[in-house]
This record gives sequence, C-alpha cells and structure tokens, in this order.
Amino acid sequence: MACSTSSPLIPTLILLLSLPILFFFFAPKILSSRQISISVPDELDDLSLFQKAIAMDSANLPRKHRNRLPSTRSRLGSTFHRPKIAFLFLINSDLHFAPLWERFFANVSVNNNSHEHLYNIYIHADPSVKITLPDGVFKDKIIPSKRTQRSSPTLVSAARRLLATAMLDDPGNAYFALISQHCIPLHSFNYFYNFLFDLRKLSGDLEFPSYIEILSDEPTLWDRYNARGENVMLPEVDFDQFRVGSQFFTLTRKHALTVIKDRRLWRKFKLPCLNVESCYPEEHYFPTLLSMQDPKGCTHYTLTRVNWTDSVNGHPHTYHPPELSPELIYRLRESNSSYSHVFARKFSPDCLVPLMDIADSVIFKD
Ligand SMILES: *[C@@H]1O[C@H](CO)[C@@H](O)[C@H](O)[C@H]1NC(C)=O
Ligand SMILES: *[C@@H]1O[C@H](CO)[C@@H](O)[C@H](O)[C@H]1NC(C)=O
Ligand SMILES: *[C@@H]1O[C@H](CO)[C@@H](O)[C@H](O)[C@H]1NC(C)=O
Ligand SMILES: *[C@@H]1O[C@H](CO)[C@@H](O)[C@H](O)[C@H]1NC(C)=O
Repeated sequence: MACSTSSPLIPTLILLLSLPILFFFFAPKILSSRQISISVPDELDDLSLFQKAIAMDSANLPRKHRNRLPSTRSRLGSTFHRPKIAFLFLINSDLHFAPLWERFFANVSVNNNSHEHLYNIYIHADPSVKITLPDGVFKDKIIPSKRTQRSSPTLVSAARRLLATAMLDDPGNAYFALISQHCIPLHSFNYFYNFLFDLRKLSGDLEFPSYIEILSDEPTLWDRYNARGENVMLPEVDFDQFRVGSQFFTLTRKHALTVIKDRRLWRKFKLPCLNVESCYPEEHYFPTLLSMQDPKGCTHYTLTRVNWTDSVNGHPHTYHPPELSPELIYRLRESNSSYSHVFARKFSPDCLVPLMDIADSVIFKD
C-alpha cells in the first residue's frame, strides 16, 4: 500500500504543510521587529499629493509675496482674511488629551464671524493601530495615513503628508504646527495666534520665521550621520551640513513648500536605517534641509518643551500626575530664547484630569 500510516513520509509531509501556517502565526512578530520600508506605490502616492499642493500654491500665491504670509488678503486685494494655523496631529495611539485640546480650541475668538476660522486640524493616524477619536473638533479630521515607526523615515513621510494635505486643503493655512498625542498646550490659542501673527509684523514687511530647533554640536551626530552606512549621505549632505533638532516644529508656509518640494535630500534620508539606535531621521531631515536652504528664516528654537533629564532608551522624561502643578506649567514655559514655549511633552494619559483642573485657571489664562 502506498499510503501506509507507518510511512515516515507522512510526519514529514505534515510538518512541511504546516510550515506556512506556522509562518502565518509567527511572521508578524518576526517582521514587526524589523524596520518598515517605504514602498514605491506609497512613495508615488505622496509625490502626486505633493505635486498637487505645489501646483495649488504657485497658482494662489504671486511670486513677490512668497516671503510674506499668503492669504492675508483676498485675491481682489480688498477684504482682509486673517491667516490660519494648521494643527498637524501625528499620532499612533488615542488622543488622550482631546478634552484639553477641545478646550484650547473652544475659546478661539473668531471676530464674531462663524464663517471665518482661525485654524484647521489634520490628523495622521497610524492605520495599523485601532484609534478612536472623539467627536467635536477632531471629528473626521483623519487624513489618508500610512504606517509609521519610530526611528524610521516613515515619520518624516507622515509629517510631509500632513504638510502637503494642509497646504492643499486651505490656502489660508500660514503656519503648520506639528503635535503628537503626548503633547499638551502651555498657553491659550489666542496667545499662540497673537504670538505668531504679531500685528506689527503683519502690517510691515518683516519676514515671518519658522520655529524649528537646529543644532550642530551634539556628540552623537557622527553616528547618526553614518546610521545608513558610512558616507551614504554624500554628496547631498556633507557632515558639516548635518543637523539635529526636535521633530516638533511650527513651520511657515514658505518652508512647508520647501519641505514638500525637496527630492534631493529625501533620496538619502528615506534610506532604511542600518543602525536603528542612532538614526532618528525625523530629528535630522527637517533641521538639515531648512538649515541648508534658509537658516536665517528659522529661529533655531522649537516651541515645544521636552525634558531630556534621565532619558531612557531615547525617550524623554514622561510627566505623571503627582508632578503636575501650576508651577510646573510656568517652568515648562521658560525657554532660552526670547519667547515662551507654547507646547510641552511627554505626559502620561492619566495627567488629563489634573491638567483639566488647571486648564482655565492656569494654562489658558492669557
Ligand atoms: C472659554 O469659554 C468658556 C465657554 O464659552 C468660558 O466659560 C471660559 O471662561 C472661557 N475661558 C477663557 C480663559 O476665556
Ligand atoms: C457677537 O455678536 C453678537 C450679536 O451680533 C453680540 O451680541 C456679541 O456681543 C458679539 N460678541 C463679541 C465678542 O463681539
Ligand atoms: C525633568 O525631569 C527630571 C526627572 O527626570 C525632574 O527631576 C525635573 O524636575 C524635570 N524638570 C522639569 C523642568 O520639569
Ligand atoms: C538653557 O540652556 C542651558 C544650557 O545649554 C540648558 O542646560 C537648559 O536646559 C536650557 N533651558 C531650557 C529651558 O531649555
């Protein structure tokens, strides 16, 4: 008999047949520890989005106004439209502080004109994570999103996708603030708005800066420069030109355009990290690009406070409820530049209740 149960072929066959099944169960575990790379279709999707945004921007903005804020005047030049802030939420878990942000946006004075909004919200949410968003200001604000992973170029892609989507969506978006689910506001919306669009600057010809940290004297810079292989960044980026800074920026529209137009640096920064522990493309791509293209147009400081004391695994200090007090908010606002911090990170989700307790009396009281 060919199919005798005692045949040694059977266990072997069973084993062979079960391999794909075993692989099916264990592969996600094995693969998820690896870096996700950016596929060609994903890259093409982004390129076509960027091209639309670039085309729209050049159609809406006369060349001579490039350095100034767009859309402060209508195309007829008569009515005055106030510029808007685009809030770009880059998240890979629930927006724990949604109620706090809800209150941040609730007190926006809109010139008593409900048709005129001073801000827009855009959310990039990692689609591989189940995220529930509350109604209210965050309802239906998720943009077409792709997977993101720490210390991989996918975080840069996500930020560029947010910038392009916001530029395309509303020519009135003049500043673009990147925020994560661990960030909280340290001031009211009106404080932030008046700070960015200081009326003296609006009426004059002064250029509006981007608030982005740009540092060149960090000890880890050499390892990070070579994290994709030795000298791989050449010839596009010399080590002398390589910069580091917080991922959390507030960019002008002019610089948002610089970012989505860039292909030259992105070709290198999108390469997978070989040394994941010292790569962090999201902390290098934006400061390097803007410091190469327009260093004078950037303040070199971020508006987002972070506490790196006793950092663990490249994660900053996470604040917990016992640490929260009005004094902490005041301390976090302090900065080494001439202006106050407007946002801070990172806070554990259970900080929501104590933060709400001091929201009106401390955080938004200005
Ligand atoms: C914000 O608006 C709410 C409701 O309109 C009001 O009760 C609260 O006092 C306002 N807070 C500030 C700081 O203006
Ligand atoms: C907004 O308009 C309403 C009615 O038109 C008026 O009663 C109210 O005082 C206005 N509020 C502000 C803040 O100007
Ligand atoms: C920063 O974190 C450390 C603990 O890691 C803490 O002792 C310190 O008070 C924090 N600084 C601020 C300004 O919150
Ligand atoms: C200001 O700069 C000093 C020296 O570089 C640094 O130790 C300190 O943490 C900075 N303070 C803030 C609020 O960033």
